[in-house]
Amino acid sequence: MKKPFVFINAAMGIDGRITDWKRRQVRISCEEDLKRVDVLRAESDAVLVGIGTVLADNPSLKVKSEKLREERVKAGKSPNPLRVVLDSKARIPLNSRVLSTDTETLVVVSEIADRKKLMEIEKRGVKVLVCGKNKVDIQSLLKHLHDTGVRKLMVEGGGRVISSFLREGVVDRVYVYVGGIAFGEGVSLVEGRLNPPVRLELLNVSKIGKGIVMEWKPENA
Ligand SMILES: NC(=O)c1ccc[n+]([C@@H]2O[C@H](COP(=O)([O-])OP(=O)(O)OC[C@H]3O[C@@H](n4cnc5c(N)ncnc54)[C@H](OP(=O)(O)O)[C@@H]3O)[C@@H](O)[C@H]2O)c1
Repeated sequence: MKKPFVFINAAMGIDGRITDWKRRQVRISCEEDLKRVDVLRAESDAVLVGIGTVLADNPSLKVKSEKLREERVKAGKSPNPLRVVLDSKARIPLNSRVLSTDTETLVVVSEIADRKKLMEIEKRGVKVLVCGKNKVDIQSLLKHLHDTGVRKLMVEGGGRVISSFLREGVVDRVYVYVGGIAFGEGVSLVEGRLNPPVRLELLNVSKIGKGIVMEWKPENA
């Protein structure tokens, strides 16, 4: 199957948690790492999150650096990559920052999504893709993204989406920042059973700010 190059990027504490016990976003990485993440976003054609992340964090998923946005425009691209949200039941609040009309967004739903809500989303000028029966079908989505010109896809989380991508065997690289923090409870980097487990080869480790970034390659890629 033709698909984009898919990479995951996330930040976790030393206990593998990506949120605190109330599933709230807490600063795990440092300024230097946020710059690294911004470059990864700017180099991508699309960035993807699950509805859990939209509901918890309300992210804008845009490139923060003006310089990086200008470089994209000089290269003939839009200032920001396409934003993709996995949202089987179309639960996305219409005032979510990711639905701002200044940047392209694709809300990916399944056949069980409420048609009226889909029309409301589309009325805002946001594209909707129906892809899968009860949950978003990741393989079909990747084919669609490739067909529409996406060659590099950044998956930013959360834990359940990361788990699904790893389970499907479609991930080419995993970048994990490990920050000096521990939560003891909260959303894990990978939420949901992987059976069989996914094994990964370590390609690189580097110190950034007060933590480390690891680069892994899944063996099932
Ligand atoms: N530290 C970090 O780097 C980082 C990065 C991102 C997020 N986060 C945190 O992660 C937390 C959210 O993680 P989460 O696991 O609760 O939610 P999530 O992974 O963001 O979203 C999961 C939801 O996406 C929908 N979905 C649709 N199709 C799916 C598919 N094929 N596979 C998986 N999910 C699919 C499902 O809801 P429906 O069935 O309703 O569609 C599912 O419950 C937030 O609290 C956020 O702060 C941390």
